[in-house]
Amino acid sequence: MLKGLLFDLDGVIADTARFHLAAWNRVAESLGITLPPAANDALRGRSRQASLDLILNYGPGANHFSADEKAALAAKKNTEYLQAIATLTPADILPGVPQLLDDAQAAGLQLAIASASKNAPAILAKLGIADRFSAIVDPAQLQHGKPDPEIYLKAQALLGLAANEVVSFEDASAGVAAIKAAGQFAVGIGDATVLAAADLVVPSTADLKLATITAAFNREVS
Ligand code: G6P
Ligand code: MG
Repeated sequence: MLKGLLFDLDGVIADTARFHLAAWNRVAESLGITLPPAANDALRGRSRQASLDLILNYGPGANHFSADEKAALAAKKNTEYLQAIATLTPADILPGVPQLLDDAQAAGLQLAIASASKNAPAILAKLGIADRFSAIVDPAQLQHGKPDPEIYLKAQALLGLAANEVVSFEDASAGVAAIKAAGQFAVGIGDATVLAAADLVVPSTADLKLATITAAFNREVS
């Protein structure tokens, strides 16, 4: 029986994935690296450090940079990102999400955030929805990033639920892989080809309807 919903944040709750990508593009440009289109999905859901390594590997390679140089590049990216998210307001919650959260709470479902972002609590506060979630996984406590299932297993444990009692939402192929490795039902938001491993894919958050999701979950999981 469905008892909880686990949400990625960037690209699922708010359109902040584009801010991450823009800030990383500026870092890449400063190093003379041009990111290929595939970086759009590859950078989603990856920790700050893993994202930087991925970018450097599109150029001379991550092992050509010292730990101090990498820390400075990651800090530069985060400063730009913080400037971009400073203006977020409740109006920046993606379409369909407020209704989904309302319907989920009316149905008695528990809600959790499973984001790799250390900025997630600040973003939720700016969006005015921090109190909707009974658990927010702290990425600093994790050993492994997505596509490892750890973050989704941690989110389900914080809610006291089992894998067959939750639905998890992602916009990244690494995130969908993490959900499936956790044995949970995955809803992908975006390109059905990129997110083919998900159990249900919708083109945009505006298409997220609790009744449709619950029906698909009940068909597959019970
Ligand atoms: C999310 C985003 C990634 C980002 C990661 C770390 O998973 O999808 O693009 O790299 O969080 O975010 P942070 O805000 O801690 O740098
Ligand atoms: Mg995401």
